[in-house]
Amino acid sequence: MFRNVHVLVTGGGGYIGSVLVPRLLKEGYKVKVLDRFFFGKETLESVSKNPRLTLIQDDTRWFDPKILKNVDVVMDLAALSNDPSGELDPQKTLDINYKGRARVARLSKESGVKRYILASSCSIYGFRDGLLSEKSPINPLTTYAKANRLAEISAKKLASKKFIVTLLRFATVFGYSPRMRFDLAVNGMVLGFFKNKQIPIMRDGTQWRPFIHVKDVAEAYVKVIKSPADKINGELFNVGSDEQNYQILSLAKEVAKSIKIPFKKKWYGDPDSRSYKISFKKINDKLGYKTKFTVGDGSREIYSALQKGTLTDSIKTRTVEWYKYLLDSKKIADSIVIKNTVL
Ligand SMILES: NC(=O)c1ccc[n+]([C@@H]2O[C@H](COP(=O)([O-])OP(=O)(O)OC[C@H]3O[C@@H](n4cnc5c(N)ncnc54)[C@H](O)[C@@H]3O)[C@@H](O)[C@H]2O)c1
Repeated sequence: MFRNVHVLVTGGGGYIGSVLVPRLLKEGYKVKVLDRFFFGKETLESVSKNPRLTLIQDDTRWFDPKILKNVDVVMDLAALSNDPSGELDPQKTLDINYKGRARVARLSKESGVKRYILASSCSIYGFRDGLLSEKSPINPLTTYAKANRLAEISAKKLASKKFIVTLLRFATVFGYSPRMRFDLAVNGMVLGFFKNKQIPIMRDGTQWRPFIHVKDVAEAYVKVIKSPADKINGELFNVGSDEQNYQILSLAKEVAKSIKIPFKKKWYGDPDSRSYKISFKKINDKLGYKTKFTVGDGSREIYSALQKGTLTDSIKTRTVEWYKYLLDSKKIADSIVIKNTVL
């Protein structure tokens, strides 16, 4: 089913989406993006003239199901995309990250879409000791993580022979994207050093996290879309690599080493309540998926872009601040008329 495949990406203008969408176009797929474009449409500027790309500015909570006509695959990424943003307005987070995605999945099935892939997160493991697999108990601590779990449950229930459902739990992403996010650990560490000559580290530095480059996230989607249905239907995969599980203090040292800077740290925040070290054996064994890029690769590309001045840290790169601004100025209101909104 791979040629002439029509893919709809919700949240396609976001940090992952604006790397994923060009990758899908390069692979030859037709791509439709459904996004509020809270971070602007310019994130997809490099592919905006591609005749196989359609942009639809709408909301997962109330879009017209007609846009799913003739779509083969839905990659559902639209969400308020991190723990602190999720706490700004927990009800809205549940509405978008859970109910919005449950709606996308249900309408996809009703519209004859063949495959549905949910972007979930390893943050669902919360605080746990040991190496965690897809079979490990979860511990969702925040509204963001709870909404992810609810979205996983509702999507999985819809899986059938004709509607192939795959749930991907991503490690924390890093690396350059046209919609840059400096609220992500590696990216924020590089920026912190660039601006203040000190690497910001969230207390107390012993917490574990898995990491993955944004280009490897895009490759994971390509891998899943090309995998036979029996290997992915109803399946849950952690997406990342065993080698890139880091304790946050060691991560900061790795960032410093890779961009050849003296290691100088600056602590911030309260002690992190989340810590999880993840096994990525299943996706490797079952789909033959391996990541290519390291924390060093990501750090160097961001540092070099900051030095050249091709990348800057506007308020839009700090997700929670930007969403706070949108919420305060009512631009994220439920009843918004999209056409008249300056986003
Ligand atoms: N970046 C990470 O480290 C990471 C890790 C694990 C999982 N994820 C998941 O991957 C997905 C994408 O993350 P990202 O980093 O690209 O985030 P992002 O914030 O950069 O992108 C999210 C996109 O969704 C859009 N959006 C938000 N609400 C919408 C709505 N109601 N209707 C339509 N569009 C809407 C936004 O405009 C934005 O373009 C999210 O579901 C996130 O939870 C991300």
